[in-house]
Amino acid sequence: MIMKSIITLIFLFSIVNFCYGGKTSDYVRQQWPSADMSKGSFPPPSGYNAPEQVHITQGDKEGRGMIISWVTPLKRLPNIVTYWEESKDNDKQMAKSRVTHYKYFNYSSGFIHHATIENLQYNTKYFYEIGINGTARRFNFITPPEVGPDVPYTFGIIGDLGQTEDSNHTLEHYMANKNAQAVLFLGDLSYADDHPYHNNERWDQWGRFVEKSVAYQPWIWTTGNHEIDYAPEIGEHVPFKPYTHRYHVPYKASQSSSPHWYSIKRASAHIIVLSSYSAYGKYTPQYEWLKQELPKVNRSETPWLFVLLHSPWYNSNNYHYMEGESMRVAFEPWLVEHKVDLVFAGHVHSYERSGRVSNVRYNITNGLSMPIKDASAPVYLTIGDGGNIEGVANNFSEPQPSYSIFREASFGHAILEIKNRTHAFYTWHRNNNTKPVAADTAWFYNRYFYPHEEPDTANV
Ligand SMILES: *[C@@H]1O[C@H](CO)[C@@H](O)[C@H](O)[C@H]1NC(C)=O
Ligand SMILES: *[C@@H]1O[C@H](CO)[C@@H](O)[C@H](O)[C@H]1NC(C)=O
Ligand SMILES: *[C@@H]1O[C@H](CO)[C@@H](O)[C@H](O)[C@H]1NC(C)=O
Ligand SMILES: *[C@@H]1O[C@H](CO)[C@@H](O)[C@H](O)[C@H]1NC(C)=O
Ligand SMILES: *[C@@H]1O[C@H](CO)[C@@H](O)[C@H](O)[C@H]1NC(C)=O
Ligand SMILES: *[C@@H]1O[C@H](CO)[C@@H](O)[C@H](O)[C@H]1NC(C)=O
Ligand SMILES: *[C@@H]1O[C@H](CO)[C@@H](O)[C@H](O)[C@H]1NC(C)=O
Ligand SMILES: *[C@@H]1O[C@H](CO)[C@@H](O)[C@H](O)[C@H]1NC(C)=O
Ligand SMILES: [Fe+2]
Repeated sequence: MIMKSIITLIFLFSIVNFCYGGKTSDYVRQQWPSADMSKGSFPPPSGYNAPEQVHITQGDKEGRGMIISWVTPLKRLPNIVTYWEESKDNDKQMAKSRVTHYKYFNYSSGFIHHATIENLQYNTKYFYEIGINGTARRFNFITPPEVGPDVPYTFGIIGDLGQTEDSNHTLEHYMANKNAQAVLFLGDLSYADDHPYHNNERWDQWGRFVEKSVAYQPWIWTTGNHEIDYAPEIGEHVPFKPYTHRYHVPYKASQSSSPHWYSIKRASAHIIVLSSYSAYGKYTPQYEWLKQELPKVNRSETPWLFVLLHSPWYNSNNYHYMEGESMRVAFEPWLVEHKVDLVFAGHVHSYERSGRVSNVRYNITNGLSMPIKDASAPVYLTIGDGGNIEGVANNFSEPQPSYSIFREASFGHAILEIKNRTHAFYTWHRNNNTKPVAADTAWFYNRYFYPHEEPDTANV
């Protein structure tokens, strides 16, 4: 009798609800203390006033522009970047930077340069050089192919990186992948604000740390809470001051009024970046921008539609639990309506992959508060596991909610390989401390061209 009731209950539960067969990984990361790498770990390049902290990001809507940024520590000059196509080193072009600097409490920044170069050839290797005479430094990058529906492209995904030895492992593991062409960065860069007085020398050190990757391929920036740097107790009232001086993005090219939300097209992807730390309620600029942005996405041109933001909407960790909820309520119906393929978030210092679920039926009176399987909904990926000073978020809620397919409390990064308009292959790589190990893989099917159900198991 009891057995029969239990079976009936299980049966009822399985029709009301659904089950993805979620898995909580039993990999246990060794818990060393996460300290930031020592001050001398990434010293400035040699030479008087040598340019440092070189970084690039996409500089226009379609991928024919690049913003090249660097810091000269002592003098405003040199403010010129020279660049040329690999095959045309007798045809060099120059671009002038816009120079800025700022003070933060008792810190005074170097001269921060941003030069936008435009009308580059697609799919072409460029060299660029900054500095003069003995301090000249040369780098290179490859422009993306022309935007189009079947253009394969490989993105790396990194979040919450910081600057510990774990951060260095994450970055080295990512860089060991020679196929990855650009990084989608999910916010929380330097964690300078975890140091007394938000010691902004930690922003400089971070710039020197990540240069080995970001001087050679664009990182697409998302704003996290560690970029706010709001510290009225030391007289710092302007949110995002260090971040917005140091990291520029092409927000005007997508008619945005703020660097914290914008979009770009790259190869076969349309990428929308949102800000968890800017207003998003009805009538706010971010709300109005997203409302007009989503209908403009042309899936025949860019089949893949991704959203990047910092604070996850579906997160079953007790850390930062439900912090993304009010933004989910504000925007989730639009993302489902426009069949967003994937939503990438950071913030929670662990890894999690959801099934395709939505929770848009709920209103304040109907009680339908459980997420349900929804073929039009995105997959939610939490990749806040770069390995920063705050350590790993190792407290998942139990039982694992049915929307959660795989979760693991350790550090790592992800790779997304777009194959064509229908298929993309995804891998999350755990830092098995000093070695990357592929620990979660999935085929994602495009929501517009191939909205079939994906296998819903954890493939470890
Ligand atoms: C970062 O990792 C690289 C590659 O393993 C290593 O050579 C370098 O010493 C590391 N840097 C620090 C400061 O740990
Ligand atoms: C800023 O002030 C703090 C606290 O007084 C001090 O430790 C630090 O050395 C100062 N930094 C600079 C650049 O003056
Ligand atoms: C750098 O080189 C230029 C031309 O080669 C020269 O005129 C200038 O004096 C040099 N500057 C320094 C600081 O060596
Ligand atoms: C969408 O993109 C396709 C392919 O580039 C193009 O033919 C079509 O005109 C575009 N549609 C709109 C509404 O712009
Ligand atoms: C809430 O949902 C119920 C059930 O679907 C529906 O009858 C009701 O009209 C909804 N209320 C609002 C304010 O949308
Ligand atoms: C895990 O989170 C729960 C819920 O917030 C809390 O009660 C518990 O103390 C946490 N456990 C640890 C080890 O932090
Ligand atoms: C798209 O890529 C997938 C995975 O590589 C492949 O199986 C499929 O045949 C491709 N589709 C087309 C139309 O080439
Ligand atoms: C992970 O690291 C441990 C300890 O170094 C090692 O024993 C284990 O084989 C590694 N696992 C994989 C899958 O590489
Ligand atoms: Fe965060």
